[in-house]
Amino acid sequence: MTNNNNILTAHTIEEIDDWVSRYPEEQKRSALLGALRAAQHQNNGFLTTELMDAIAEYLELDKIAVYEVASFYSMYELEPVAKHNVAICTNISCMLMGSDKVVDYIENKLGIKVGESTEDGRIYLKQEEECLAACAAGPMMQVDHVYHEKLTPEKIDEILDALD
Ligand code: FES
Repeated sequence: MTNNNNILTAHTIEEIDDWVSRYPEEQKRSALLGALRAAQHQNNGFLTTELMDAIAEYLELDKIAVYEVASFYSMYELEPVAKHNVAICTNISCMLMGSDKVVDYIENKLGIKVGESTEDGRIYLKQEEECLAACAAGPMMQVDHVYHEKLTPEKIDEILDALD
């Protein structure tokens, strides 16, 4: 596998290699989701064409196959956003448990609307419409892909204030 132009950092390559090692040699494609996540993290929260091309080259996949996957899954950002990704589940179960109030609280706290990033580049409030499969513990949100459940204003303050 080659990383000719050093667009992917050594740390990202290490993570991709780890994903690749989990699958049979002829199924390198299976490592793509993990590879995209590592590259997105490297780039402070969003993917660029350059990064996707570098992954395609490294995993020996067609560029178009990488673009398709990156644009299909909502966990990948293709436009610049702030560093930390906060996604509040607003699907039916969480809605019944007060996710609307959570959205209002966080929008007021951060001074932005869902779909926007804070001016200091710290927090991106993502539009999340899919159920995140933690319905019994709603209302919930994902922060940089970590689940936080049974949210209260106190818990939200603690979680968001701890983000650098
Ligand atoms: S509805 Fe929110 S986790 Fe399922």
